[in-house]
Amino acid sequence: MISEKDFILNNYTLSVENGSFQWSAPSNIALVKYWGKKDHQIPANPSISFTLNNCKTITKLTFEKKINDGKFSFDLLFEGQPKEDFKPKIQKFFERIFEYCPFLKDFHFTIDTQNTFPHSSGIASSASGMAALAINIMSLEKVLNPTISEDYFNQKASFLARLGSGSACRSIKGNIVVWGNHAEISGSSDLFGVEFPSSVHENFKNYQDTILLVDKGEKQVSSTVGHDLMFGHPFAEQRFSQAHHNLSAIKNVLENGDVEHFIKIVESEALTLHAMMMTSMPYFILMKPNTLEIINKIWKFRNNTQTSVCFTLDAGANVHVLYPESTKEKVLQFIKNELVGYCQNGQYICDEIGNGAVNCN
Ligand code: DP6
Repeated sequence: MISEKDFILNNYTLSVENGSFQWSAPSNIALVKYWGKKDHQIPANPSISFTLNNCKTITKLTFEKKINDGKFSFDLLFEGQPKEDFKPKIQKFFERIFEYCPFLKDFHFTIDTQNTFPHSSGIASSASGMAALAINIMSLEKVLNPTISEDYFNQKASFLARLGSGSACRSIKGNIVVWGNHAEISGSSDLFGVEFPSSVHENFKNYQDTILLVDKGEKQVSSTVGHDLMFGHPFAEQRFSQAHHNLSAIKNVLENGDVEHFIKIVESEALTLHAMMMTSMPYFILMKPNTLEIINKIWKFRNNTQTSVCFTLDAGANVHVLYPESTKEKVLQFIKNELVGYCQNGQYICDEIGNGAVNCN
């Protein structure tokens, strides 16, 4: 079994003065949700997600050797402009990963980052953002220690991304990614995401995700606070064991192509996530009236037309509409006719399953 110790870099040479890397990393949408964590970003239950294709963060990491004065040194640019508000999160990330990447104090960094989706869309950029930064850092590690394998490179990138934001570890590599130990998923680990190891049924190839932007405002409660509220939550143990069951069930579904069963698991997971928020102390609600309007419209459309379309939710009000590629025209027409009116400024983003991070050097 791979342990944290395997990700400590022991031998390296500061063989490079300066340079830069550039990677893009996508967002992902969980089917079985991660909600609740232990110390060191260890998930309370395993989760599985579709990797997205169009919603991405593109990050350029420029580095220059400096005297190691025991401090991190970096500048942060968002869309080309200095962004002080993002710095504390990066500082914390560096502190968390320093044990595994001891070279971080030997360089001054410029982190230049941008998203392909509107910043204020309410789409979590932490998954794609942390994944893009983590994989850039691995590119530098590979220069300092060229012996590492491609598998180790990706595994450690996911491991580092997890320390930045849990769900980010599912944004490195693969169409469908599992994070967290699960009895039936070989190679699964609490430490990093792994590609879903079975072969996936045709029905799920190029699965579509249209993200309806219901509310672009700042969330009232951050995911990190929400995760903490699963401590001492009255339904926590039941929820964690349900996630294991749902992951077993969705594994079979992804293999056998049973889209009807897929819909039941995915919608139940989304509503359970929000039920956990509503039953924590303090309790909170992240859905908006239009979130519910959209859910009801989707149910009605599905009943009336027998189209395999369903929804899922993140920790926010936006709705992800999931459907097979074969129903694309029909569902997009339905979205345009009946759902756009519930989106803020009529905004939605068309996405689909993608492959993970891309080196854009
Ligand atoms: C509801 O990964 O954003 O999207 O680890 O505290 O950064 P931190 O939390 P984060 O939580 C995401 C939770 C979720 C479900 C999921 O993506 O599995």
